[in-house]
Amino acid sequence: MTTHKIAIIKGDGIGVDVVNEGMKVLDALAPKYGIIWDYTEFDWSSDYYFEHGKMMPDDSLETLEPFNAVFLGAVGHPAIQDNITLDGLLLPIRRRFDQYICLRPSVLYPGVESPLTGKKPYDIDLVVIRENTEGEYLNIGGFAYHQSPDEVAVQTAVYTRKGCERAIRYAFDLAQKRGKKNHVTSITKSNALGYMTLWDRTFAEIAEEYSEIETTSLLIDAACMDLVRKPEMFDVIVAPNLFGDIVTDIGAIITGSMGLACSANINPDTSVPSMFEPTHGSAPDIAGQGIANPMAQILTGSMMLRHLGEEAAAADVDAAVLQLIEQGEILTPDLGGSSTTEAVGDAIAEIVSR
Ligand code: NAD
Ligand code: IPM
Ligand code: MN
Repeated sequence: MTTHKIAIIKGDGIGVDVVNEGMKVLDALAPKYGIIWDYTEFDWSSDYYFEHGKMMPDDSLETLEPFNAVFLGAVGHPAIQDNITLDGLLLPIRRRFDQYICLRPSVLYPGVESPLTGKKPYDIDLVVIRENTEGEYLNIGGFAYHQSPDEVAVQTAVYTRKGCERAIRYAFDLAQKRGKKNHVTSITKSNALGYMTLWDRTFAEIAEEYSEIETTSLLIDAACMDLVRKPEMFDVIVAPNLFGDIVTDIGAIITGSMGLACSANINPDTSVPSMFEPTHGSAPDIAGQGIANPMAQILTGSMMLRHLGEEAAAADVDAAVLQLIEQGEILTPDLGGSSTTEAVGDAIAEIVSR
């Protein structure tokens, strides 16, 4: 038996519903794989904010330190400015545990219709490595002449050689490991943002160490176009933080739905917790309706299993999700079905428990 100590943060909106289903699936496969889930649930969320004036307690980062992983739904509430919710919970966790890799696969599964015409299963099979700690997300800046007609806002982007290098190297290693197209695409905007050439130089240098991997460098605008025009070309994409954020929503929708987009915030050093949360947010437009697709959260659970060394259990979860999609009977509305979040979770839990 192996015990995994997991911090659960369901968060807001559909985060609560999809984490419930994610846990249901993790629980269902535990006996088969000799896993003991040692969960601790934290009610840190916008509701917590309404009560306490902050998203989580002051010592919460210390509280999370001993966990093997954080399993998070989403945060964000229409009544609170988003930078308060996100810089009060999600982003400090990513930063504190130096979760510098954000890993986001986008695969067009059999049975899922892409909004792009003529795409067959697996025509789109890419993974984005998003640098996850730098760029604009360090949130360095300020206001001058605050709230006056002369107001100035400065939002600085930060790039370090070390930060670029570790994300880019991870991408090349992943391309090698995948053994698919042996291709890494780098995305920047260094025609306009001249100091971003640090990223391009680092990319070029590291590429030389991987002679068998083909490379492409794209500007973010053209990359967005190519993700729509010819998504088949992509294998591994490596991008600075904000661009990685943008292209992963495109990756999600061209492969069918935000409701399938799994994601992991990883620090490969397992002495600190990594955090597993899907690409999507709290989706206020469908919250409380019981129709959110829990598959993104469930597949995020599979990424967590892999990170914890439970490869066979992870493969089981992936196969169960694929099976349900291919069957096409129990699906949420985003995938053209009429089933509930709970029904999809139940069905996947049933398959993995066999
Ligand atoms: P969103 O990802 O929540 O929703 C975008 C669209 O995708 C919506 O139409 C939504 O209904 C749909 N969608 C998302 N997840 C779905 C699912 N599982 N099943 C079916 N449909 C799904 O993005 P948004 O609307 O821009 O953001 C809403 C809130 O979430 C904001 O407060 C934002 O800041 C926050 N947010 C949080 C996270 C996070 O905590 N990791 C990530 C993104 C956005
Ligand atoms: C994501 C989200 C977050 C991000 C927001 C909510 C801060 O959009 O995980 O993609 O930009 O990283
Ligand atoms: Mn995003």
